[in-house]
Amino acid sequence: MEDQYAAVNVDTPGGRYLIRIGPGRLDALAESVPADASALALVTTQTVADLYGQRVLDTLSATGRRVVQVVLPDGEVHKTQASLDKIYDTLLEHQLDRKAVLVALGGGVVGDMAGFAAATYMRGVRFIQVPTTLLAQVDSSVGGKTGINHRLGKNMIGAFHQPIAVEIDTDVLQTLPHREISAGLAEVIKYGMIMDQGFFDWCAEHMAALRHLDTAPLMYAIQRSCELKAQVVSRDERESGLRAILNFGHTFAHAIEAGMGYGQWLHGEAVGCGMVQAAQLSQRALGLANSDVARITDLVLATGCPIQPPAMPIEQWMALMQSDKKTQAGQIRFVLLESIGLARVDAAPDKDVHAVLQAGVPQAGAVS
Ligand code: NAD
Ligand code: GLY
Repeated sequence: MEDQYAAVNVDTPGGRYLIRIGPGRLDALAESVPADASALALVTTQTVADLYGQRVLDTLSATGRRVVQVVLPDGEVHKTQASLDKIYDTLLEHQLDRKAVLVALGGGVVGDMAGFAAATYMRGVRFIQVPTTLLAQVDSSVGGKTGINHRLGKNMIGAFHQPIAVEIDTDVLQTLPHREISAGLAEVIKYGMIMDQGFFDWCAEHMAALRHLDTAPLMYAIQRSCELKAQVVSRDERESGLRAILNFGHTFAHAIEAGMGYGQWLHGEAVGCGMVQAAQLSQRALGLANSDVARITDLVLATGCPIQPPAMPIEQWMALMQSDKKTQAGQIRFVLLESIGLARVDAAPDKDVHAVLQAGVPQAGAVS
């Protein structure tokens, strides 16, 4: 069972590593522990610890290393300096040295925080990503973006720090709430929208099976998403250009998350809704075909994510979007689509942005 995994290579200036994807990977984590690891620090949340903590502790202890554990409070509201300090406290209290390896077990919140702790503890130690949400498996665990939120902005404090391995156990998705599955599927379909029309079509055909967590299509969706993300980060690790396309829908999404209060909308839900808004903007600003806007809307709807943006004054939307990290010299820049599978980053006329923000509920069901 443990040998049945798919492998994806990531090759960046900051590190080369393997993503292993398959059932039962939690029991095979030793394969990713480097021979010279002096100790292991498992970083997780209470929810995930209750489900998988002991099993992972047993797997890690079987490597013969000393294993310490940090259990953080759950949720986006805890992606803070206080949680980060808790990780540092444990590492220092147990006198972990520079050869120690952190193991991030959980969703994107834990992965981002443990990764940032690894980037900064003793000026940088190694870490392994063990993502347990679909969103983390297809996106946040790959590519080395790490960080925490600041009260003035999401993910505003962070570092690029690549993991030394990513271990994806597809079985753990069985315990994930449906809402979290839908949120992860929003990031899956994003890859089709921005860079692979064939994958977009495949997702549209297999969406029911994906929501049902059927093993074969689920494995393929995770593998293809990781391959596409690996292609992008291998070419542009530090987001000096191309990598920004991975933020399709995110300018609107970050405004939704901040405007509604972190944790009200799941990140992936906000991305789903934001991709519909970004498609509408692409239609106005770049002439994206109406049929493509309809197909995007329908596919987001099929994931189970909301497609109706929350009611917020336009001034609030604009102010929140202004603080997006893609903004240059005060000008908001969006990821826009020329067609499904072809994205570019550009500014858009304010009148088009306002028109999208004023629009009502998007027309779903235009394409069957
Ligand atoms: P999350 O980490 O909050 O996890 C969602 C919930 O699922 C949590 O309550 C968690 O305890 C629970 N959970 C995790 N695994 C479970 C399992 N197998 N069974 C049952 N419950 C489980 O949220 P997320 O959606 O995974 O991640 C969102 C975060 O990821 C955001 O902070 C976002 O900024 C970040 N992100 C980072 C990147 C990146 O490139 N670094 C990319 C995308 C998103
Ligand atoms: N999720 C966007 C990125 O990794 O760049």
